[in-house]
Formats: sequence, structure tokens, C-alpha cells
Amino acid sequence: IWRPEDLIDSTVEDIRRKAVDGRVLVAVSGGIDSTVTAALIHKAVGDRAMLVLIDHGLFREGEVKKVVKLYEEVGLHVKVIDASQSFLGKLRGVSDCEERRKIIGETFAEVFTNLMRENPDVKWVAQGTLYPDVIESGAVKGSNVIKSHHNVGGLPKWFNVGLIEPLRNLYKDEVRRLAASLGLPNEMVWRQPFPGPGLAVRIMGVFNDEKLAIVRRATAILEEELSKAEVRGYWQALAAVGDDEWVGVKGDRRAVGHIVIIKVVSSDDGMTADWMPLDADLLSRISRRITGEMPNVSAVTYFVSSKPPATIEPC
Ligand code: XMP
Repeated sequence: IWRPEDLIDSTVEDIRRKAVDGRVLVAVSGGIDSTVTAALIHKAVGDRAMLVLIDHGLFREGEVKKVVKLYEEVGLHVKVIDASQSFLGKLRGVSDCEERRKIIGETFAEVFTNLMRENPDVKWVAQGTLYPDVIESGAVKGSNVIKSHHNVGGLPKWFNVGLIEPLRNLYKDEVRRLAASLGLPNEMVWRQPFPGPGLAVRIMGVFNDEKLAIVRRATAILEEELSKAEVRGYWQALAAVGDDEWVGVKGDRRAVGHIVIIKVVSSDDGMTADWMPLDADLLSRISRRITGEMPNVSAVTYFVSSKPPATIEPC
């Protein structure tokens, strides 16, 4: 049985041996993978670690501020780069989700490139790629591409920097053990996974500001109600929206609105997942709030398929 302390020591040693000089850029998201990566890099190279959070405009409500504050509390300074207009400008009107993932990956690369031009002393980039990301992106021989995770496949050659992926052989639960052993707070260790492309993969059909605002608010309502009801032990809770509409009545008027899908799943590693039964009153409260707070939403459905066959994110 492996001990997290041993893995931390050997990983920190590896990083030190590799990144002997120059700064190490870590793009963090607040998620457990990039946070543990950042903590390991900081432990290995101290102030030579450069932590940035690229705001793609696809985070949840209040998430960027909350994440920066949490990092500060554990002694990690993060610089926020607001690139939201650039990301959203390219995503608007794009219907194909894989195309959106590609755009997001390319835009991240662009922002990185600019960052590196401004910081020529950066010689390394560290990423929190996990083993399941590697498999699902088809990077393992004999596996099929299920979703092209933007963070797998290396960096463009012209970056001219080295890539460090300290978590590449690990599953999420193993990363959580590392996080706890590194002394990161529970809020970070047990934070639910959130996809790199953010809310963009929870919008089915055409991407637009209206649907982005709907998933953002619906997610906030869902998380708030789950927290109030003290629902624990879930892997992920999410809201998604597509182009299907449902005719509604608001007051005495016909009001055609969007259908919001909410979903809560349990899982050990994200490779398989089960839908979680929720209390009927809780579901009813969530539904009433979502339709009540958003005039352009007329219906809420609860997602009852597991993975397989349905992946966790809608696209
Ligand atoms: P799926 O939807 O493939 O998701 O069943 C499995 C787990 O991975 C997360 N996910 C992603 N994470 N970049 C990420 O960093 C991505 O492109 C991406 N797509 C899905 C998802 O939230 C779930 O926890």
C-alpha cells in the first residue's frame, strides 16, 4: 500500500531535478488536480512557481473570487487573468461541443503564449493531468477518444518549454489523499470536480449568453439547496440546458421556456457513475426556485441515467 507522504517526497524530488532553473507556470482552476499540482510545484521550487488562474468566463457564480481567497489562505498567491471576453467571443454561436472544447484549448494556448512572451523566465509548465484524462482522450494506445479533454496531448512545440505532469499516473481519489497529506483544507480536498472547459460543456446545442446565464444560476441554486439539505457524498452536481423548449404558464400567460436538467451523481473516479436519488421535497424546492427565478425557464427535469451509458457531462 502506498503512503501519500512517500509519493509527495519522490514527486517533489522529481520536480526539483527537472526544473532546475527558470520559473514554473501553473494554470490553476481551484479544482483538486491543479491545486495539488500547484502545491507540489510550490513545495518543490518555492517562489519560482508562478500560479495563474485564467478566467475563461465559464466558471460558476462567484467561483473565481472564492478560489483565489482559498489559495491565499494556504499561502499560494494566484494572479487572475481575465480572458473571458476572448473565450466567450469565440464560443458564441458554436453548436458542436467538441468544436467548443477545441476553441477553449486553443484560446488557453493563446493566453499562455502571451503570458510566456511577457515572462521569458518561464521554462516549465505544470498541468494536473490525471490518468482517466489520459485514457479518455485516447492518449493510451488501444483506447478510443470519448471526449477530447483540452489538457491532454502536450503543449504546442513552439512553446519551447518543458511540461511537468506530476499526477499523470493517478486517479482522483489518490489525488485527494495527496491533498490531505499536503495539509490542504477539506474544502479543497473534497471539492467536487469541475471540468476544465467549465460551463461550456453543460450547454447543449448553440452556445449563447442566455444559456450560460441559465446554467450558472441553476447550478448556484442546486448547490445551495443541496448544501442546505446537507446532502453529502456526491461526486458532482450539475445543471445543463439545451435548445428544447417547454410551453409554460406564468401567471395567466403562455411563456415558452428552456428546460433545465439537473443531475447529481456518485462516483469513485469519474470513470463510472450512478445517478443519486434525491428527496422529493428537495427536488421540488430546487425546481420551484429555478423556474421562479428565471422567467425564461419553464421546466426542470432530474437526470436518471448512470455512466455507462451516459457520460457525466452532457457533452
Ligand atoms: P465525463 O463527462 O467524461 O466526465 O463522464 C468524467 C469526469 O471528467 C470531468 N470532465 C472534464 N474535466 N476537462 C476536465 O478537466 C474536460 O474537458 C472534462 N470533461 C469532463 C467531468 O466533470 C467528470 O468529473
